[in-house]
Amino acid sequence: MDNKNSYNSGEDLKKINDIILKASEKADKETSHEPEPEYTKPLEWPINCAVGPGLEGAIACETTVGYVNGAKGWLLYRGYNIFDLCVNSTYEEVSYLLLHGSLPTKDEFREYKDKLIKYRNIPKTQKLMAHFPLETMNPMAMLRMGSNFMRHEFTYKAGKNNVELRSPSGMEACHQLIAGFASVAAAVSRLREGRLPIEPDPELSHAANLIYMITGERPNPVEERIMDIALILHADHGMNASTFASLVVASTLSDIYFSVGAGIAALNGPLHGGANEKVMEMLNEIGGVENVKQWLKKTMREKKKIMGFGHRVYKTYDPRARVLGPLAEFLSIKSEKAAKSFKIARALENEVNAAFGAEKHIFPNVDYYSGIVYSAMDIDASLFTPIFAVSRVAGWTARVQEYLEHNRLFRPRAMYHGEYDKKYTSIDRR
Ligand code: CMC
Repeated sequence: MDNKNSYNSGEDLKKINDIILKASEKADKETSHEPEPEYTKPLEWPINCAVGPGLEGAIACETTVGYVNGAKGWLLYRGYNIFDLCVNSTYEEVSYLLLHGSLPTKDEFREYKDKLIKYRNIPKTQKLMAHFPLETMNPMAMLRMGSNFMRHEFTYKAGKNNVELRSPSGMEACHQLIAGFASVAAAVSRLREGRLPIEPDPELSHAANLIYMITGERPNPVEERIMDIALILHADHGMNASTFASLVVASTLSDIYFSVGAGIAALNGPLHGGANEKVMEMLNEIGGVENVKQWLKKTMREKKKIMGFGHRVYKTYDPRARVLGPLAEFLSIKSEKAAKSFKIARALENEVNAAFGAEKHIFPNVDYYSGIVYSAMDIDASLFTPIFAVSRVAGWTARVQEYLEHNRLFRPRAMYHGEYDKKYTSIDRR
């Protein structure tokens, strides 16, 4: 951060809590006119539901992991409201909650945290990664490769004639993935900058250790708290594309590493998690508040999507953006870099609101302000989407574990509209 010493931990941590509480109040107020949802019971399959292109509206499975309500702007993990978790919890606790179904007792939490600390150490994976020309590689491709190396590290032991000693599935593998993803993402970042990966610090929280392993500096409590909140906010989100991709792979009884590999691949796209990096490119392209109006006019004329806006499910403001926006604003007071991007982002949000109107439901989503938050912490844009994955791996693993309890191979249909009676012509006659 440009101005690291300007933090007063006690005061700033309180300000951050106030930001979340205010966001929660605002969300309640703005959606109070929406009726309470119908609380559903277990389904009796087969079911009827209206399905649109992109499987919009399709119910793929039942779950108790998390719930998104697009009209009320709710995001719940195992029944707990996201704002409540942001104020009171940590990523370690939230990942436990998602994966194991309830908040841990003290003993359970101690044991879980010890496990995460153990699995932060992925020396073989880091060593293998160092052999690749990372500076020229896509960071999400590297993350996927790193997760495959982690599979190897988890299952094989040196000198055992390539015998898999442990199954690359189950809770233990999920714990390794949740802990190890952060170390892989940090290694990607350092290797891309021509620096060697560093060892994790067992004294640090998951969020603080992530920053430490990226930057080489132990963060102050304010940076740690902000990263923790960002990780909590991204941990799970209904049947999003990357979660669905993970489930599809898991349903073939492929293992958890292949499943999360599919998640990483899907998350990379700019319509999904890749949007956070694209938002930063967009803000840089706009260049200044004075260019916002013109830029938006041109973008709308060309019928291009505005990155970081819109959502398949939310028809109100995304609750995650309700927190990340004010956090970006808070950081913009401390960081000049963040201040410039934040001013453009806020001006663009106002212009988009005015241009589309409330009925069109084009609001900022989670990816709109997250990059400003990360860049204020000196994290390069190439790492924004990997950090999304570092968090979302909790949701992927939790939902895969749940789905496998009553597994059924995913196998939807496609409607054939092609011809039926063509006759084969040999290649020299075509
Ligand atoms: N900019 C301009 N118009 C938009 C946008 C946008 N970002 N998003 C939706 N619209 C319009 C769209 O043009 C369409 O208008 P019309 O009805 O006149 O044709 C209408 O809103 C419905 O949009 P859609 O594309 O049919 O909606 P969808 O549910 O298929 O798309 C989306 C959802 C996220 C892919 C889309 O909003 C989008 O492309 N956003 C930009 C990329 C982005 O920010 N992605 C991150 C998503 S949230 C985090 C995550 O889950 O990864």
